[in-house]
Amino acid sequence: MRKDITIEDFINGIPKAELHVHIEGTFEPELMFKIAIRNNSRIKYKSVEEIREAYKFNNLQDFLDIYYEGAGILTEEEDFYDLTMAYLEKAVSQKVLHSEIFFDPQTHTGRGIKFSTVINGIHKALAEAEEKFGMSTGLIMCFLRDLDESAAMKTLEEGLAYRKRIIAVGLDSAETGNPPSKFQDVFTRAREAGFLTVAHGGEEGPAKYVREALELLKVSRIDHGNHCLDDDKLTEELVCRKIPLTVCPLSNLRLKVIDCMEDHPLRRMMKRGLLVTLNSDDPAYFGGYINENYLAITKALNLTPDDIYKLAKNSFEASFLEESVKDKMLARVREYKKMYE
Ligand code: HPA
Ligand code: ZN
Repeated sequence: MRKDITIEDFINGIPKAELHVHIEGTFEPELMFKIAIRNNSRIKYKSVEEIREAYKFNNLQDFLDIYYEGAGILTEEEDFYDLTMAYLEKAVSQKVLHSEIFFDPQTHTGRGIKFSTVINGIHKALAEAEEKFGMSTGLIMCFLRDLDESAAMKTLEEGLAYRKRIIAVGLDSAETGNPPSKFQDVFTRAREAGFLTVAHGGEEGPAKYVREALELLKVSRIDHGNHCLDDDKLTEELVCRKIPLTVCPLSNLRLKVIDCMEDHPLRRMMKRGLLVTLNSDDPAYFGGYINENYLAITKALNLTPDDIYKLAKNSFEASFLEESVKDKMLARVREYKKMYE
């Protein structure tokens, strides 16, 4: 790599895709406060600083309690639009050419917000970003795995009216004690309706949950997947079938899936031949967007420009883009690398 370029510059400028980001997890305290005031909603914090101060958690459940409380401020279509637009502006500034974004309808419908309010607000921002920034996007509807399957099925039925706006369904929220097997019927129904499927797995839960997601939910990607490495046969299968893992380093650190960034299994995953990608998960809560994730893991594991190049290429290969579009975006990554040689 050219000597006048720092690794940080290289990361910041490389074209990339983001495949694991929860729109509700991009809710920055400043916007949360602004929307709370706009809607006259009750918020237990007196300032932006107080909101940030409350972001202390040691595991997934502690985090989720705070995350759902924050998401509870979102009420109007405009709120969902503002939230999504703020993320997209950030993403485009970090050279994200394509983003596949999770949303949690049940987090909102469960407190009386209409499904249409949520999806119309998000969709308006996505359509505008495609037009204004030339960015491409996809929307993934997640089911909350700590609720029962009938609630997920009801959500799927509502989502069917917006089939064209949603590329896939996913599974998130509290993993431990909520195995993929619980959602086999709703995922079967979703696939029959033409949705692709993904699922969070092996974040706090065991390798067994990753296997269930593959075999029972027939997912095309695993979100996180850290614990798949505990099962050699499973890892081999993920490698052979080129099933991507959407890894989120800062999330893993903040939720104590790892003790320190130096312990992150990313290098082992790459060496093993897994199709790994880097992502931000819930950037407003975990201390950074996609580039901060690339930089933190690069510093901790001494990743090289070639590793970063590989991860950026993986992000497009693992995406749900059409092959011809993928090829165009991959060509942009190759051109970028050539500029710095
Ligand atoms: N894990 C599971 N569910 C989630 C997460 C996460 O990191 N973020 C938002 N919902
Ligand atoms: Zn996630």
